[in-house]
Amino acid sequence: MLVIGVLAGLATAAVAYFIPWLPDQGAKEAVQIDNVYWVATIICIVIFGIVAGVTIYSVFKFRARPDDEEDGAPIHGHTGLEIFWTAVPTALVTAISVYSGVVLVGNEKVQKNHGVVEVTAQQFAWSFTYPDEGITTGELVVPIGRQVELKMTSKDVIHSFWVPEWRLKQDVVPGVTTRLLVTPNKLGTYDVICTELCGLGHAAMRARARVVEPAEYAKWVQDVKAARAQGGTAQGKELFTSAGCGGCHTLADAGTSGQVGPSLDQALKGKDAAFVRQSIVDPNAVIAQGYQPNVMPQDFGSTLSKAQIDGLVEYLLKATGGGG
Ligand code: CUA
Repeated sequence: MLVIGVLAGLATAAVAYFIPWLPDQGAKEAVQIDNVYWVATIICIVIFGIVAGVTIYSVFKFRARPDDEEDGAPIHGHTGLEIFWTAVPTALVTAISVYSGVVLVGNEKVQKNHGVVEVTAQQFAWSFTYPDEGITTGELVVPIGRQVELKMTSKDVIHSFWVPEWRLKQDVVPGVTTRLLVTPNKLGTYDVICTELCGLGHAAMRARARVVEPAEYAKWVQDVKAARAQGGTAQGKELFTSAGCGGCHTLADAGTSGQVGPSLDQALKGKDAAFVRQSIVDPNAVIAQGYQPNVMPQDFGSTLSKAQIDGLVEYLLKATGGGG
């Protein structure tokens, strides 16, 4: 029985250990969360080994033999065993929840001079406002090594913010501000994924999170501000990538490759300014063949200023070779 149990435990442990189940750790908080996960997994493996050992041994040892017609001896309960198999899981589950609680409290300690980003979710896009910098963008850009507090709310239904490499997930609820503290410690570009079924475009509700060096972050802020101040096509191009358009639409000039909405290189070819403008402020007016209405946010007409929309239209016409 012992041998079977140990073999089953080792086989399961090998599956857990040798297959890379988890994505890279991209934040300080991820290390602690993974530790909780692995402690729970190890406990599960030990219990699985015990159950597999007893089960496989019993199936073999107490199997019905050809000449054996008798029922087994009647047994009614075993108080000692019942106390044992109630007490042990209770202690294990309690230990796991206490450990999880300690880790969560530790991860939620607010550091001095942490950054703040306001996250707004809507069907089906994310936007990020940097109150200290006075800018709003469609990608989340944060400097490495600095704790950032995400203050999140939704304009419509419940969404959920998740970056797998950070291991942190938080519901984004209309009328409520939820928060998430994260200290990214690995440079790179990650996916922000909506993990609450929020409607037709749920699966497409993604944004980019970029973790950059502090100097690059400062430069990025300046670039965003400069492009906006400049207006026209420079502002349009900056908006296209930062307002989230590129997350859903392919546009060669902007280097984006989104597949959710129609490729603008094709859809806008030869179109005029009126069509481009209508497609931004009233996206349901003309739906490209093979695509669904109500996936693109309906409120760009009110969330973007007139100058911003003018800049986008001007840029898109230039980028797709359309006539003005
Ligand atoms: Cu937003 Cu799913």
